[in-house]
Amino acid sequence: MTSPQDLMKQEVGKAAAARVQSNTVVGLGTGSTTAFAIEFIGKRLASGELTNVQGIPTSFQATVLAKKFGIPLTTLDEAEVIHIAIDGADEVDPHKNLIKGGGAAHTQEKIVDSLAEQFIVVVDSSKMVDKLGSTFLLPVEVLPMAVTPVMRAITKLGGVPELRMGVRKAGPVVTDQGNLVIDVKFSSIDNPAELEKTLNNIPGVLENGLFVGVTDLVLVGELQGDKIVIKEI
Ligand code: A5P
Repeated sequence: MTSPQDLMKQEVGKAAAARVQSNTVVGLGTGSTTAFAIEFIGKRLASGELTNVQGIPTSFQATVLAKKFGIPLTTLDEAEVIHIAIDGADEVDPHKNLIKGGGAAHTQEKIVDSLAEQFIVVVDSSKMVDKLGSTFLLPVEVLPMAVTPVMRAITKLGGVPELRMGVRKAGPVVTDQGNLVIDVKFSSIDNPAELEKTLNNIPGVLENGLFVGVTDLVLVGELQGDKIVIKEI
């Protein structure tokens, strides 16, 4: 049986997919919520309701799903504009700033999502927080040879770093780019914009999961009684 959380993800994915228009380039995010959006975009294309849509994937996962659901793909070299990007998040604060990277895909996601004319975030209500970092560790993608110095630098900044390990795979998680991920616990993220820049300034850091000032619209799937309601923020 589908869990209430999966139902929220499904409905919010569908709501985002409904906003995609014909003759557009769409950024395809990563994660279990965006997977539903990709599926519904594919269904709209298959039914003929949508035509001439091209996707720009943010991960191997998005590429595989786009192919499965029949969405033609393009690249940042070929597309002059990304009209809309749809992506999930691990945390969303009241200013629509995000923590992403639970699927280790935040580097490609930040490139595609930031380039989009409209960036829509799709989440279930469990992702809404008052302050970033309260429920989720901050992912930082790092070049393998720099892991130890980057961990030391993060500790000096007051963070507690932890190398992300694979599940059902021995050793660390390796990103789509061949790098490693350090998950960091900060006691409090008071200034996300400043922390985003500070972390990216450490030599060896490729990108961190703070997305500040990028989001245009958040669609939140919420369970009200036995109904799923989609809230817009
Ligand atoms: C991928 O690295 C992440 O940024 C995902 O977009 C994020 O973890 C949300 O995933 P879910 O929709 O599976 O929660």
